[in-house]
Amino acid sequence: MKVTVAGAGNVGATVADCIARKDMVDEVVLIDIVEGLPQGKALDMAESAPIHLFDTKVTGTNDYADTAGSDIFVITAGLARKPGMSRDDLLAKNAFIVKSVTEQFVAHSPNAIIIVVSNPLDVMTYVAYMASGFPSDRVMGMAGVLDTARYRSFIAAELGVSVKDIQALLMGGHGDTMVPLPRYTTIGGIPLPELMDEETINAIVERTKFGGGEIVKLMGTSAWYAPGAAAAEMVEAIVKDSGRVLPCAVWLNGKYGEKGLFSGAPTRLGRNGVEEIIEVELTEAEQDLWNTSSDHVRANLATLERIQNS
Ligand code: NAI
Ligand code: 2OP
Repeated sequence: MKVTVAGAGNVGATVADCIARKDMVDEVVLIDIVEGLPQGKALDMAESAPIHLFDTKVTGTNDYADTAGSDIFVITAGLARKPGMSRDDLLAKNAFIVKSVTEQFVAHSPNAIIIVVSNPLDVMTYVAYMASGFPSDRVMGMAGVLDTARYRSFIAAELGVSVKDIQALLMGGHGDTMVPLPRYTTIGGIPLPELMDEETINAIVERTKFGGGEIVKLMGTSAWYAPGAAAAEMVEAIVKDSGRVLPCAVWLNGKYGEKGLFSGAPTRLGRNGVEEIIEVELTEAEQDLWNTSSDHVRANLATLERIQNS
């Protein structure tokens, strides 16, 4: 199998590195507009193979012809947040970039599955969906895997338990309106509210919502280790046809009462991409949070439409 990653910056390089280290595909291709950058990073990764012990071939290019016949396309190309910027501030420029890389890629790999990472995530996934002309089960966005990883890491630190025993569900758009669901969070099978008081849960939920901004504030740009690992986990689920249930930004088409937008929902992933969007019961309060999050994604889509029409 062959995976192409567009954008050889912080997130793209980390995705490629994580995929290579899993030693599960034949080839990873990094592509970027900056000459030398994807080639240099790919060579560096390839030289780590005898240490990490992987046989995956890692190459870098500026030419889409080299991406031909890819099975999976991860899009990280675009601008990242700087202090004082929200994910939404990136919309106009990244929409142009995501459309351009998608069109160039699909011309060479018409049967691939696309995973979008560029922000604002839910709208950029829509842009890639429209630009690709692919069916919706072959286009998805990565956000929920990262956001749940942050949430799970905070819970593990607070309780002093292993992250391995924490299962969690987080839904909605990738932004400050995301919807962590403590009721669907378990530690070794025990529901979170049995082990943690409401005040601490609320503090962790709030920290998770602003988890991206916390890192931007600390280092002046956005995160890449956890985002890269998260996108690679989705790639692995598809490559191995594992049926893993992960929160992904998916085309809702009537699920959770929404149509015409991508947002985060529990998704069974497999070799065909989105195998199933799983619907769970939401309480009235959870549904309100979901609706607010969907409204935010819709507002961003309206901004995109205004930009495209101007
Ligand atoms: P970065 O600035 O380190 O890398 C972006 C790369 O994209 C650069 O190397 C740049 O040359 C390249 N690029 C720009 N235009 C291109 C084009 N037309 N074709 C190919 N490559 C192009 O940024 P970083 O930190 O890697 O972030 C990438 C994106 O991922 C940002 O939009 C960021 O907001 C988003 N992100 C999303 C997350 C999520 O959870 N969905 C998490 C972290 C970042
Ligand atoms: C993050 O959550 C900025 O979306 C990026 O780290």
